[in-house]
This record gives sequence, C-alpha cells and structure tokens, in this order.
Amino acid sequence: MRSSQTAGSRSPHLAGQVAIVTGASRGLGLEYALTLARSGAVVVVQDRDFSQFGEHAAPDGAARSAVQELDAIGAEYRIAEFDASDEAQMKALVDSVVEEFGSIDIAVANAGGGTGSIGDSRASSLAGADFEAVFRGNVLTAVSLVGAVAPHMKEQQYGRLVLVSSQGGMRANTRGNYAHYGSMKSAIISYMRNLAQDLGEYSITVNAIAPGYIGTDRMMRQFESVGIDEIEGRTALDRIGTAQECAASVDFLVSPAASYITGSLLTIDGGSVRNGA
Ligand SMILES: NC(=O)c1ccc[n+]([C@@H]2O[C@H](COP(=O)([O-])OP(=O)(O)OC[C@H]3O[C@@H](n4cnc5c(N)ncnc54)[C@H](O)[C@@H]3O)[C@@H](O)[C@H]2O)c1
Repeated sequence: MRSSQTAGSRSPHLAGQVAIVTGASRGLGLEYALTLARSGAVVVVQDRDFSQFGEHAAPDGAARSAVQELDAIGAEYRIAEFDASDEAQMKALVDSVVEEFGSIDIAVANAGGGTGSIGDSRASSLAGADFEAVFRGNVLTAVSLVGAVAPHMKEQQYGRLVLVSSQGGMRANTRGNYAHYGSMKSAIISYMRNLAQDLGEYSITVNAIAPGYIGTDRMMRQFESVGIDEIEGRTALDRIGTAQECAASVDFLVSPAASYITGSLLTIDGGSVRNGA
C-alpha cells in the first residue's frame, strides 16, 4: 500500500499507506490519527476507552468523540478498543488490517502516561507496583505494537515506527518526582535505538519523539495547578506547545522526507531547559 512518492512530492504524502496509532481516542494520539489521515493514510485508531471524549476539548472548546472528529475530515479509519499491552489482541487487529488493506506501513506507539500525582511520587517512595503499572502502560504497549507490526513490515521491506518518550525520559524531575514515568520513558528511548538497529536491514525506520509541555486538555489541568506562567517560563519559546505541533513531527518522521532518519530522538519541547514537577 505504500506510496512511491519521494521527498518533495505534493500532498497527500501518505496516500495509499496504512497507519495504526495506539492511545488515540483523545489527546495527542487522536491528533496524530487525524493528521496522518489528512496526509492520506488509512488510520487504525486504537484505545482502551473510546467513551472518555467528554474530557477531550477540541480547539473550539467542543467535546467530540474520535469518531466524530475522524468523520468530520472524511478519514478512512477503523477503531479498536482494548488494552494496547494485550499482545494477542494487538496481533489479531494488525493481521486483520493487513488482510483488509494489504499492508501496515506506519505504527505510532502513543498509548501511555503516568499514575498518581506529579508532586507526590518521589523516586524513593515509589513501590514496585507503581513501576510495574507504568511499565505496562508505556513499555509493554509499545512492545505489543512492535511485535504485531514487525513481521509484516519485514515482509514488506518497509515500515515507519514512532515510539513516544517524553522530556521526563531525558532528565530527572526536581526532587525526583514522577520517577516511575521518567524511568519508563527512558526505557522507550533505549528500546527505540535497539529496534532501529534490529530493523534497519528491512528498510524499517524507528524513531521516538520526546514531547515537552504540550497543552492537551488533560495536561492543561496539570499545568494550571503549577501555574501557566511558570510552565511557559521553562521553555525558550515561552509558551506551551500544541498537539498539532507534535503531530506535525510525527507526520514528518513517517513521511518519505524522513527516509534516512532512524534511531533518532526528536524533542518537541520549545527549547525546554528547566525542569520541574
Ligand atoms: N501531553 C504531554 O504534554 C505529553 C508530554 C510528554 C509525553 N506525552 C506522552 O504522549 C502520549 C499521549 O499523551 P496525552 O497527553 O495525549 O495523554 P491522554 O491521557 O490524554 O491520552 C492517552 C490515551 O491513551 C489511552 N491509553 C492509555 N493507556 C492505554 C493502554 N494501555 N491501551 C490503550 N490505550 C491506552 C488513554 O485511554 C487515552 O485515550 C503518552 O504516551 C504520554 O506519556 C505527553
């Protein structure tokens, strides 16, 4: 299904391609799915819960479901609801997608997040169970997706994988807060680098993004509790990023223009240099 278009060709540059995005019923994942669909891809939108769209506010302030948003742009899509760490269900989904559309070209392992409150999770007070939950939510969800798509991508001799780390995976938070999340987002970077080495001979690229302060509906509530001015002041650009800015980077990494980029970590953080919790 992949396009033979080369860098510099006209949109839609993902025409004929098939993409899967996990954790995509809201927030950044939904924005990735919408962007890839606008770029011409058929999109498989995977999440463990499609009923939470009331929490997702679009830029105009309206709460719309993933299905409503995808329909509004005329996307060709499928939705699948289950926990992304379930390897059997993920494999069955991807196999059925390849059966229906002929290939799986793009996979974005976006499902993830932390547990507990940012200010109440210092490294030394976290329990093994805290790490285990965040490991499952961030690392095993990626492992499950990779395990499902890699055999097809190898056979196709083509694939674009994007994993999702975080600025929290690149450096410690003040006073070691949210250490379970940071540790697992760090693991994602190492996993990505090893996957890139493993899969390069099949012309499969593997990269990761590390978003900084991105103003999804969920995160804006956290930022407000710290203070918007304080958060903005931690970035060189003096502002919080948008989901669309993150999605543009994902769209680039899976595009023909990024054909010689693999094993890279792309920070999307407005030049964030200070740290906090
Ligand atoms: N928003 C930010 O500022 C920011 C910054 C750095 C990294 N990230 C990362 O980006 C990704 C998306 O973040 P977001 O802000 O959009 O979060 P979000 O909570 O708004 O959305 C995450 C989505 O993933 C789904 N999900 C979570 N665990 C899942 C699982 N096991 N199986 C299937 N679906 C699952 C949730 O149901 C939800 O729809 C996460 O991996 C997060 O860690 C976000």
